[in-house]
Amino acid sequence: MDLKLKDKVAVVTGASKGIGAGIAKAFAAAGAKVVVNYAIDKAGAEKVVSEIAKKGGEAIAVHCDVTKAADVKRLFEETKNTFGQLDILVNNAGVFAFEPLEAVSEESFHRQINTHVLGNLLCSQHATEMFGNRGGSIINISSTVSANPMAGLIVYCAAKAAVDTFTKVLAKELGDRKIRINTLAPGVTDTEGNHTAGIIGGELEKQMVAQTPLGRTGQPEDIAKVAVFLASDEAGWVTGERITVAGGLL
Ligand SMILES: NC(=O)c1ccc[n+]([C@@H]2O[C@H](COP(=O)([O-])OP(=O)(O)OC[C@H]3O[C@@H](n4cnc5c(N)ncnc54)[C@H](OP(=O)(O)O)[C@@H]3O)[C@@H](O)[C@H]2O)c1
Repeated sequence: MDLKLKDKVAVVTGASKGIGAGIAKAFAAAGAKVVVNYAIDKAGAEKVVSEIAKKGGEAIAVHCDVTKAADVKRLFEETKNTFGQLDILVNNAGVFAFEPLEAVSEESFHRQINTHVLGNLLCSQHATEMFGNRGGSIINISSTVSANPMAGLIVYCAAKAAVDTFTKVLAKELGDRKIRINTLAPGVTDTEGNHTAGIIGGELEKQMVAQTPLGRTGQPEDIAKVAVFLASDEAGWVTGERITVAGGLL
């Protein structure tokens, strides 16, 4: 077995389902101890933890709304109390709403921007403090739409563009502390969130697959394999990059 993340500890935000759950399970399979964060879906997070444990891995589920500073503080305190260190943060928690300009409300704006942008910032603050002298790796989950925006998704596209910029700024700001930050940009991926939004199985999925050279929808495992690489020492000379993982969809 290839234990690329042996002796490392990872926090994955929004890991109760979807891409985050896929990354948490792949990290554990690669030898990392994993903090499976959730906001609402405790049962989903506990299922991920039990799947990891069944395969001999170590994980805990921790509640935290990444938009709340006090919750984020507690997420990293619980990580320290349980595993004693931190090496990897994946800023994955996300929400989106298909809304044209005139339909965007103040509430929806803040929900999306706070989850993707403020949540990323708060988690990165605590993670960089906890990494200490050994340094660490941050992976920001963005989207193909940050570089190739879609009509009807104004706030989400802008939030993901901010995430891309966070990566570039922090790669410059934190390099001398041996901290690497990279963006992973998935295309349309088969997740619970996309099922709830009616994308998977709908017209939009067909259109996206038709534009995808490799001719299918992504799976969380496709994204997770690249996250394992970016988190590992094999990517030790990679920082400030944005890697699209989308079967060739731009
Ligand atoms: N699926 C795609 O096609 C796709 C494509 C490109 C990028 N992405 C990005 O990939 C990431 C994961 O997407 P997904 O499709 O896997 O979504 P998903 O299936 O809807 O899962 C979203 C996850 O985020 C968590 N979350 C939401 N708000 C949170 C908050 N305030 N604090 C903590 N956790 C929170 C949810 O936790 P609870 O269930 O506990 O609420 C859940 O675990 C997102 O950043 C998304 O923008 C997805």
